[in-house]
Amino acid sequence: MKKDITYLHTKKQQKQPITVLTCYDYPTACMQDDAGIDIIFVGDSVGTNILGYKSEMEVTMADMLHHLKAVRRGVTEAYLLIDMPYASDRNAKQAVANANLFLDNGADAVKLEGGTEKVPIVTALTEQNIEVCAHIGHNPQIHGTKAATHGKTVSKAKQLIQIAAALADAGAKLIVLEKITEEISQIITETLDIPTIGIGAGRYCNGQVLVINDILGIGTPFKHAKRYQDYDHLTFEAISQYIYDVENGDFPRDENVSHIATGKLARVQKWLESERCNI
Ligand code: KIV
Repeated sequence: MKKDITYLHTKKQQKQPITVLTCYDYPTACMQDDAGIDIIFVGDSVGTNILGYKSEMEVTMADMLHHLKAVRRGVTEAYLLIDMPYASDRNAKQAVANANLFLDNGADAVKLEGGTEKVPIVTALTEQNIEVCAHIGHNPQIHGTKAATHGKTVSKAKQLIQIAAALADAGAKLIVLEKITEEISQIITETLDIPTIGIGAGRYCNGQVLVINDILGIGTPFKHAKRYQDYDHLTFEAISQYIYDVENGDFPRDENVSHIATGKLARVQKWLESERCNI
């Protein structure tokens, strides 16, 4: 069954946690989908995690489209969410055009970073029936890669609660809470009708999102992430063993090669000899 926004809202109502992971390629999308993840998310973190960029601000629409197309081919059931990259949603007209490009290429919804300044954009997208996920707290496109915790002072906490409500009123169907104190995330989660998806925002959000590289152990994860695999180490070991095997004649072995039938080989050799005589 293809998961849609009604399915995700029902999960919130039934207090069932929503599972989200970032995804940047086809084989990982197949695995996430098979494993039953709710939302597969093509994040602009593709820039720093896959493309070797210094920050999310370098990620372009073309980058996102390229990865969306790969991920889309692997998704059957999950809800497919994609980030609007830096400066792709500066005004309503541009945001609608870019979001439609993503929808035309298989996305179910778009996520955009920002606070009250993004309310008119969320309204415009919603008016075009484009499903939007808002994203508040730490916003890499605005604050850069160094993530501070949000919602630690009374005024900042009130502000976050008001911003979340304004974005939901504008039509956002989901909201990511990134690096927000657990208590304020809980208040936002209990106040809003739409699901909250936390990353470094504590235990009481309606769902959790993590970067796939962080759970696999590729690179250095943030404190809020949890490593479930030591991919870097496993990959390094595999590469080193391959180099060793090739250098020592242990790869390829007979089971890795294909042969021509002896009779046919004899005919090729005979032909080669006659060719040599003709030279
Ligand atoms: O791009 C990203 O990885 C994000 C996080 C919130 C998961 O936006």
